[in-house]
Amino acid sequence: MCGIVGYIGDSLAAPILIDGLKKLEYRGYDSAGIAVFGEKNHINIIKTQGRLSALEQLVSSENPQGTIGIGHTRWATHGEPNIPNAHPHFNESKTIAVVHNGIIENHNKLRDRLTARGYRFISHTDTEVVAHLLDYYYKKEKNPQKAISMALTRIEGSYAFGILFADERDTVFAARKDSPLAVGLGENENFIASDAPAILKHTRDVMYIGNHEIAVIQKDSVKVYNLDLEETEKETVRIEWDVEAAEKNGFEHFMLKEIYEQPAAIRDTVSPRIIGGNIPLDELGLSENAIKSLRKIHIVACGSAYHAGVVGKYVIEKLARIPVEVDLASEFRYRKPILEDNSVCIAISQSGETADTLAALREAKRQGLFTVAIVNVIGSTIAREADSVIYTHAGPEISVATTKAYSAQIATAYLVALRLALVRSTVTKERFAEYVKALESIPDKIAELLSDKESIQHYAIECAGEKDIFFIGRGIDYAAALEGSLKLKEISYIHSEAYAAGELKHGTISLVEDGTLVVSLATQPDLYEKTVSNTAEVTCRGADVFALTFQDNPALLQNAAFSVILPEIDPLFSASLSVVPLQLFAYYVSLAKGLDVDKPRNLAKSVTVE
Ligand code: G6P
Repeated sequence: MCGIVGYIGDSLAAPILIDGLKKLEYRGYDSAGIAVFGEKNHINIIKTQGRLSALEQLVSSENPQGTIGIGHTRWATHGEPNIPNAHPHFNESKTIAVVHNGIIENHNKLRDRLTARGYRFISHTDTEVVAHLLDYYYKKEKNPQKAISMALTRIEGSYAFGILFADERDTVFAARKDSPLAVGLGENENFIASDAPAILKHTRDVMYIGNHEIAVIQKDSVKVYNLDLEETEKETVRIEWDVEAAEKNGFEHFMLKEIYEQPAAIRDTVSPRIIGGNIPLDELGLSENAIKSLRKIHIVACGSAYHAGVVGKYVIEKLARIPVEVDLASEFRYRKPILEDNSVCIAISQSGETADTLAALREAKRQGLFTVAIVNVIGSTIAREADSVIYTHAGPEISVATTKAYSAQIATAYLVALRLALVRSTVTKERFAEYVKALESIPDKIAELLSDKESIQHYAIECAGEKDIFFIGRGIDYAAALEGSLKLKEISYIHSEAYAAGELKHGTISLVEDGTLVVSLATQPDLYEKTVSNTAEVTCRGADVFALTFQDNPALLQNAAFSVILPEIDPLFSASLSVVPLQLFAYYVSLAKGLDVDKPRNLAKSVTVE
């Protein structure tokens, strides 16, 4: 993870760097630092442990005057989150400063070699290896571009770098492989950033650096080279969305704002794809013949995106009658998956940068599968590498715990399932039309649920002292339970588990005792009686039940300590509704416990390491 920024121009660099880092704090917040040119080619590094606010204070007291600099906010991978391990890192003579996002996989080997040549290390990071390696090649080549390209050929792993050389005080250097990095193009000033919101205040024109490319950025020019130092042509992309979209807009937390943005996220994702009652979904990149001869779909993803994949499995199998396997991306890539002809792989990812998902996608591609990405971030690595992309239009998501991006992912799964079903004639035209109507009605029904958030807030406050919470459901409700449980544990630090309701009795029910909270989801008519029985199994052992169901389910409601009645919708789409009260529940429990809702401990939004 980690976020990097860079600035070169006529304004003071430090405030611009700090402001940019604030927009990137979701990528990590263990420590932060900046490097700014001072007088006479001197590079001044200011860094500190903890949140960015600590760095901001330090920077305002030191008030560095340079107009060129780089900055970093860290999510620790190698070395604990302390000041020596914070970025930027120097070479020994303090003439090269480096910020890095990613992981240098062969850092131990490189460290040994450099140590043997007399280099001394003061941190435990993989990044310091790069500062010394650059020093080594710079002394040999006397040319920064050459030194960078030589270093890149020695480094294995993933990286986005921002680099300053004391001898080149009119230049910021950058390079990347498998970690995101954009160059922002201004007038007489230029920027680098891990993600566009960090620089959107200054410019909307960006250039994306490719893998193994080196950017040489001056205030009035940007040149990009390949490893042979041949200049490569880059196109400029104009970012159309607004900077306010990445800010809180009066909400106390990004998470609550993003929960409220779900109707819009789903509408923006679904509406443009419904054309005259049909779902052509050309972006899927599969012809009608290809869809008809599909034998299997493999879905790969991590975290909440994996849970969206589980919803996808239920709806695609039910509607289009195609077998779907859903894998955690980190498992798929190493389990030597057996991939047959006429199968496709769908990678789901909000960021489009998750390392495991990217690796799983590459494995599927390597084995000759057609790959489809369902991704939120335009131009991200997964989006670029997949054979086709269906973008979710959730807009930038800042809270670490995903809400609107997850909802847009399941809406996209519904779109894909319906498209496949129509082409394969596994639903009638009439049924298809009803499903499309139901899908289009989801945003209004979520808005209805949101208008009644106070009752959930009160109940959440009562539950803030819980130690263990179980979520149970069958079929699509089980998929929704997985996400409800993850939301709760990641931001409230309460242990929670999601179980297929029928599986609870095979072991886990031994944990249920007087007063244990069990959230029971029962929205599927064909499974309703079964879930009611499974819920009775826990209430008779003293459990308190939070029931989530439709109105006509009195058997479940009569024994519930608390309940949320979902607005009526075809049960196939219940996952889009049932997740909303569970997100609000998690949010208000976290709030009641006084926790940092948007930045839960140990987590990062974009996980670009294995
Ligand atoms: C991280 C986030 C999760 C997210 C997962 C996958 O672990 O904390 O909220 O679901 O990564 O992220 P992606 O960007 O691939 O959807």
